[in-house]
Amino acid sequence: MFEELEDIKNKCLKCQKCALSKTRTNIVFSDGNPNSNLVLVGEAPGYWEDQKGKPFVGKAGQLLDKIFECVGLSREKDVYICNTLKCRPPENRDPLPEEKAACKEYLDAQLKILKPKIILICGRVALNTFLPECPSITKVRGKWFDGPNGEKMMPIFHPSYLLRNDSREKGSPKWLMWQDIKEIKKVYDEICNL
Ligand code: URA
Repeated sequence: MFEELEDIKNKCLKCQKCALSKTRTNIVFSDGNPNSNLVLVGEAPGYWEDQKGKPFVGKAGQLLDKIFECVGLSREKDVYICNTLKCRPPENRDPLPEEKAACKEYLDAQLKILKPKIILICGRVALNTFLPECPSITKVRGKWFDGPNGEKMMPIFHPSYLLRNDSREKGSPKWLMWQDIKEIKKVYDEICNL
């Protein structure tokens, strides 16, 4: 299995299917445990991810680690993390449709090999990739959806959105994330830890 993932990573390293290949420092393929049943798919690498070649290593990533830790999940051991795009869009702009289309084969191939039981769809851009019919993350976060391969999928807020919203009051984005991560852990314990 790891060899198959390595093959896809090697394809990404050589990929020139879109213009982001010209501006990237590194491709950002994944982090965490490929044996995990829990996969988080984010948006695209930012500055630090592009520098280090690892997803979610900037401020948003540090918050994501804390969110997992709050329910006893370790980023290294319990989760596999990747993005819809493997290369950084300049100035962190939203990925263009042609960039997402070019990169989709890599994400699809990763998921086909990993066969996770749970996919966390992290933020608006990932939502648009998995559930294009859902207009807004606010409306669907915290809800379970059936994935194409029998997995359970839940859209969750992106940690950068949480960084922009400080309140922890009931109903605030941070409070909602806390409800979601508790629900995710409950289902993870039911179906992933068997
Ligand atoms: N935001 C993302 O969606 N992915 C990363 O890897 C980093 C920040």
